[in-house]
Amino acid sequence: MNVLLLGSGGREHAFAYKIAQSKMLTQLFVAPGNAGTLQCGTNVNISVTDFETIHRFVIDNQIKLVVVGPEDPLVSGIADYFLQTPALQHVPVVGPVKAGARLEGSKEYSKKFMIKYGIPTAAYQSFNASNLELGYKFLESLLPPYVLKADGLAAGKGVLILNDLSEAKQMLQQMIMDKKFGTASTTVVIEEFMHGIECSVFVLTDGISYKILPTAKDYKRIGDNDTGPNTGGMGAVSPVPFCDDAFMQKVTQQIIEPTFAGLKNEAINYCGFLFIGLMNDGGNPRVVEYNVRMGDPETEVVLPRIQNDLLEMLWAAGTKNLEKTDLQISPKTAVTVVMVSGGYPDAYQKNKPISGLDNVTESIVFHAGTTSSHDTVVTNGGRVLVITSMDNDIAGAAAKSYKTISMIDFENQYYRTDIGNDLVP
Ligand code: AMP
Ligand code: GLY
Repeated sequence: MNVLLLGSGGREHAFAYKIAQSKMLTQLFVAPGNAGTLQCGTNVNISVTDFETIHRFVIDNQIKLVVVGPEDPLVSGIADYFLQTPALQHVPVVGPVKAGARLEGSKEYSKKFMIKYGIPTAAYQSFNASNLELGYKFLESLLPPYVLKADGLAAGKGVLILNDLSEAKQMLQQMIMDKKFGTASTTVVIEEFMHGIECSVFVLTDGISYKILPTAKDYKRIGDNDTGPNTGGMGAVSPVPFCDDAFMQKVTQQIIEPTFAGLKNEAINYCGFLFIGLMNDGGNPRVVEYNVRMGDPETEVVLPRIQNDLLEMLWAAGTKNLEKTDLQISPKTAVTVVMVSGGYPDAYQKNKPISGLDNVTESIVFHAGTTSSHDTVVTNGGRVLVITSMDNDIAGAAAKSYKTISMIDFENQYYRTDIGNDLVP
């Protein structure tokens, strides 16, 4: 079958890499893709939110399945667009409808949802221009650090964690009144700070049954030992040693089951990935956030551990047959390290030629921000390459990724040197 994959990051290269290995695949198209996805299929220059052009492309190229990588098209309603367009109704979209995507698209909605269905999470209240003064009062009632979240999508930048009360009040004012994150911060969620260690759980569902995919831990800060500003993610490990059977049983009973029961109760037919960001507080999971897609770079450690034919699984999810899938997970550990452009997450340069890619033997090099220019692969984003290796343990897999990194070069490259260290006993 012909498949259209939407997105252009390391996550999408990992999807493309696995889909390209499927015996069910005829042709894979990636819109817009990057220099890595080009090795797995055909890149097409269509924006992920240009539904009309996607519509024509799907018809013209006899696409049988659409797989959505990023959240934007889901929050904008791409799955609804397919369901409501007679010529596209027969093409399953792996990704939830707009009502389901609100779990990521609106922090206020997702908090209400969690409270309504008894899912453990931080206490919160939300504020807007009409009750800003109450927001200041609520901040005064909390202990630092203060957690302020823009309600809407803010490209991963909409969460502020502040130690100082007057700074927190000032930021609340700037988010709501000065539109610090545009319309995304018209409403701001203020929540209790949760202590613990973060991890991520991923679930694939067809709306009837679900499969829990391998767990992962992301490293969000730019600097070693979790210092400096937040990024989209600088590395990841799968599995997470502390996500043992006892912990996962709590996650299933206290979080996954009530989440899907809640979606059913809201009459939301959710097909696709659900990414649950968790805080492990002394063995008890609490939800930090929902995302309605896979994580990046978590996908680059989760998918390489899945031994099934991924396209077969995605097709099963899209056609409501997931229950029959027997998920096979590799017992190996995967570690990925992200090579970024110097300056990221602030300003950085692009168009730097990348060398050494042909020498790699022990790792999979997923491309994130790359493009092809006159037969050379050049940098085209902040996160440039995502280097995944598998081994018997974290230390072995990390060592392979760092060895691979030493063979790759581009001007002003930067990466964290401590991915996985905190999880090694
Ligand atoms: P989010 O976009 O909601 O995942 O928030 C981004 C990051 O902020 C999370 O990955 C956490 O590291 C941190 N964070 C968010 N909410 C809280 C909270 N209530 N308590 C502690 N840390 C939080
Ligand atoms: N790595 C975090 C995310 O994809 O949101």
